[in-house]
Amino acid sequence: MNPTPLLQLALDYVSLPKAIVMAALVAPEVDIIEIGTPLCKAAGTDAIRAIREICPDKLILADFKAPDVGGLEATIAFDAGADMMTVIGGATLATVEQALAVARERGKEMLMELTGVRDILERAFEWRRIGVDRIVYHREWDAQSAGREWAEADKVTICKLIDMGFKVTVTGGLTMELLPFFADLPVSVLICGRGIREASDPRAAAHQMRLAIADLWSGSSG
Ligand code: 5RP
Repeated sequence: MNPTPLLQLALDYVSLPKAIVMAALVAPEVDIIEIGTPLCKAAGTDAIRAIREICPDKLILADFKAPDVGGLEATIAFDAGADMMTVIGGATLATVEQALAVARERGKEMLMELTGVRDILERAFEWRRIGVDRIVYHREWDAQSAGREWAEADKVTICKLIDMGFKVTVTGGLTMELLPFFADLPVSVLICGRGIREASDPRAAAHQMRLAIADLWSGSSG
């Protein structure tokens, strides 16, 4: 039986007050709260501090998708109260190493974000070699808008990443309807943003999603 993946709520807002309202409402139903990239850009570390204050017991991920200056970006995220931060897959290995070193020093986590990466397995081999152990496998918003669907090929790549030793987070337009598609994979985290935030009752939607994840993964064998 595969372990039950954690559920992460993505707060992709540009308004911090709206993000705070949504976090307060939905936090009891999720495991990880993500300060989404738009919110990181619009409200910066104020967003991390504010969400940390209202969700003291939740894991918080700052989705910086840091492109350079990895050590400093990781320091900024962790100083503000994040438990995890992301580096974009196109960053140099030096950037990844520096962010990873800060994460390790601080007892925190750095995740590679695969947005825009085409040679995923080649890059993943390099990241594994320097000690990265977490990856965010992403169907990007713009690719989704342009018609990209989740496919069996994604699952094959995700399985290869898991076999290489990565803990894999899956994200990108996830909905209740899509969960069964992934339920035979031992993924670590599932991120849902719009599927929860845009529901008529976001807290109920998160609750239902968590129940569905527990149910689907309890029957999976990998
Ligand atoms: C966009 C992101 C989002 O946080 C991620 O895609 C999850 O949001 P959604 O479930 O709405 O796709 O990283 O770059």
